[in-house]
Amino acid sequence: MRFGRWVGIVGAAAALLACGDDTDTEPPPTIDNAAIELPRAVDQDPAAGSFELDLVAVPTQITYGGSPETAAWGYNGSVPGPLIEVDRGDHLSVHFRNDLPDETTIHWHGVRLPAAMDGTVFVQSPIQPGDSFEYEFDLKDAGLFWFHPHVVSDIQVQRGLYGTILVRGEDEPEFDRELVVVLDDIRLLSDGSIDEYPDDDGVTNGREGNTLLLNGQVAPTLRAQPGEALRLRLVNAANGRFFNLKIAGHKLRVVGTDGGLIPKPYELDTLPIAPGERYDVFVALVGEVGDEIAITTEPYDRGHGTDKNPSMPLATLSLEGVKVIGKPLPDAGPPLDLLAENGTAIPVLLGEAFIDGEQKFTINGEVSPDVPMVMVANGETHIIELENETEQEHPFHLHGFFFQVIARDGVAVLPEDRFNKDSIISPMMSSLTLAVRFDEPGMWMYHCHILEHAERGMMGMIEVE
Ligand code: C2O
Ligand code: CU
Repeated sequence: MRFGRWVGIVGAAAALLACGDDTDTEPPPTIDNAAIELPRAVDQDPAAGSFELDLVAVPTQITYGGSPETAAWGYNGSVPGPLIEVDRGDHLSVHFRNDLPDETTIHWHGVRLPAAMDGTVFVQSPIQPGDSFEYEFDLKDAGLFWFHPHVVSDIQVQRGLYGTILVRGEDEPEFDRELVVVLDDIRLLSDGSIDEYPDDDGVTNGREGNTLLLNGQVAPTLRAQPGEALRLRLVNAANGRFFNLKIAGHKLRVVGTDGGLIPKPYELDTLPIAPGERYDVFVALVGEVGDEIAITTEPYDRGHGTDKNPSMPLATLSLEGVKVIGKPLPDAGPPLDLLAENGTAIPVLLGEAFIDGEQKFTINGEVSPDVPMVMVANGETHIIELENETEQEHPFHLHGFFFQVIARDGVAVLPEDRFNKDSIISPMMSSLTLAVRFDEPGMWMYHCHILEHAERGMMGMIEVE
């Protein structure tokens, strides 16, 4: 649809140029983002309503920017792994094989699914090298989701194991151009190898890399036409880095997040995106053909200042072709099914401790796996009282359910400003009140999505009976 429109405009421009000019008409230049688009999974099931694919986790060689080749791990050999695009309600079947030298699992981050498919070691035994596992579930929600291992996740995700699932709803807003964007950073040594040594800083703050990646590429070019409504579907797959996205001279209109479209879009100059979070952003492209616009991550203080996080380039947005009149940006989204605010409280206190000379991260004073399991009854709504007593931010993630922030430091969030999240920044020395309806039985995990923190204690379990 949008492609057809584009062909129409450029075709007309080419025809105009052609009159009065006897030379051969060149085909119009293609303005697409094929060079930076994610590899797409191909559906092996011709039937409508189901999507089937083979997925293998495998060592692979990747070249990042100008660095020598890197020994990475990738799903189907690419970093990022494939983009699986389906419609809401589709059934997904993934024939997964582990061709890594280590055991692994896959967690489908943000997807509401049966607990047995959730990929944690509480619901399945890790898949051994050479073994296979069938993951299958229905996609109940429209939005952008992602998948990654849930064993030794700090190492396995850092090596490149992550992919995306884009679930389309029936009433999507119109746009002129869309790109699924996976943000990551990686710490490369001069020989191209991944520096996996978790130094004190990496353990304390979450490991940040020296190389920023957008869809696995270093400082790529995103191409568009001036005037277009550009839709970016963003996910932060980094271990510890928060991105603070900016597109120079442009407002970012947030129309959706982890749980899909939100009722009331809002605009920002810079958009903080913590590890695990997703944002659905519209940008009305202003400028002229030939403009090159910087896409950067801006300084963001998550508890250790901004010295180590200056403004850094992520990509260049190149305006090409002809100026067009773009689609209007969405100013309203679908209504939200508001969760009740009067459930029993589940206290979750995020802390830090130094135990036997090692930096650990705690929940209610305990280090995982010693954090006591929370038991709830199926169908109940509860209130997670999330409190962060540390001097850094932690991206809190809950498996299997969306939550709604109903208060920040005791101040109510207006019902019209609420939306569904599965990952959220828990600000330092502050509290968040989250409503959750537990409507799927099983064992579910919650944890900090700074993977070094999760692997060092900041994880807990909820059992829905
Ligand atoms: Cu992406 Cu347990 O998380
Ligand atoms: Cu953390």
